Amino acid sequence: MNHKAIIITGGAGFIGSHVVRLFVNKYPEYKIINVDKLTYAGNLANLKDIEQKPNYRFVKADICDFEAMLSLMQEEKVDGIIHLAAESHVDRSIKDPFTFARTNVMGTLSLLQAAKVYWESLPEKYEGKRFYHISTDEVYGALKMDGSLFTEETKYQPHSPYSAAKASSDHFVRAFHDTYGMPTIVTNCSNNYGPYQFPEKLIPLFINNIRHRKPLPVYGKGENVRDWLFVEDHARAIDIIFHKGKTAETYNIGGFNEWKNIDIVKLLISTVDRLLGRPEGADDDLITYVTDRAGHDLRYAIDSRKLQRELGWEPSLQFEEGIEKTVRWYLDNQEWMDNVTSGDYQRYYEDMYKGR
Ligand code: NAD
Ligand code: TYD
Repeated sequence: MNHKAIIITGGAGFIGSHVVRLFVNKYPEYKIINVDKLTYAGNLANLKDIEQKPNYRFVKADICDFEAMLSLMQEEKVDGIIHLAAESHVDRSIKDPFTFARTNVMGTLSLLQAAKVYWESLPEKYEGKRFYHISTDEVYGALKMDGSLFTEETKYQPHSPYSAAKASSDHFVRAFHDTYGMPTIVTNCSNNYGPYQFPEKLIPLFINNIRHRKPLPVYGKGENVRDWLFVEDHARAIDIIFHKGKTAETYNIGGFNEWKNIDIVKLLISTVDRLLGRPEGADDDLITYVTDRAGHDLRYAIDSRKLQRELGWEPSLQFEEGIEKTVRWYLDNQEWMDNVTSGDYQRYYEDMYKGR
């Protein structure tokens, strides 16, 4: 496939910014169009290093706006869509499920319908097109502490409003393949970590709190297990799957890297303290056990052997190495963190485009 114009939605967010950077740098012959509404989670400072590249365009738009999506696809003659835009934080979904249904379900549907209307209007229709939907392992529900893994055949059993909305969007994507023949692909990835993650999520929140000696709110007993993948490994998987994945297939993405929350918290404390030259154990007392998250999924763990076997993808980093790199990045980029925690980043877009 020789794609010329690709929309990446949610490109100003955490994972999306890594995907945009990878595609803009690796494929100068493609036009990469980043469509992002710039919610609290969208930050154009994540893309400062590539925003002047000639094959990159940013469009501030809401994926729920069907007319805007359709006219952008027509204007840019879009032949590929990599869809990451979503509300992504479980705790927020517990407080405000409507926003999650709107963006994750209706937004995905609006994007699918726009692609359908546009691609079906072309003489070649769906030939050479691809709609790639990025999803999460959380749609599979929770595992027991019994060594079992989520495979591509595991039944959907979402528990949080976030995962319920993502599950619904996955179903719509498959329905567009089965009903209209749209060339779709879905991947379900485990928890990501790395640079540019919004500090509401465990790892960046705790790195920043340790640095400032603020309490670390560990939910419940800290015994929940997550399967962690370095974000650049996820972006590399997305590149491989976008180009070589089989239409209508699902691929699980994960690095066989399960960690109990409390063990990660201890690793973060010792890494931050070492890099800041603080004595060993200096910040252990920041750990604060708090009321558990409602409906807190016990364990996630991904079987990614299909992706490894069929498309040859492998994670590149060991977790300890990835955490070291990540902690260093947050410590070296305090300005990014301060802009995010103060809310200043939300003025970046207005300042950048002032007077144009
Ligand atoms: P994020 O919250 O950091 O970024 C989401 C981006 O989407 C933001 O830039 C935001 O402005 C944008 N957005 C939100 N609503 C929008 C709308 N209505 N229209 C246009 N743009 C909108 O999220 P993330 O952690 O980078 O996750 C990206 C995708 O990957 C999501 O679909 C998520 O479900 C999935 N995913 C995330 C993880 C993870 O660990 N973070 C793991 C597996 C899958
Ligand atoms: P999070 O980063 O929110 O990702 P997800 O809920 O999508 O897995 O949380 C990762 C784990 O860390 C999860 O088990 C909840 C837990 N957690 C805490 O214990 N304290 C916190 O402050 C946060 C944000 C998460």
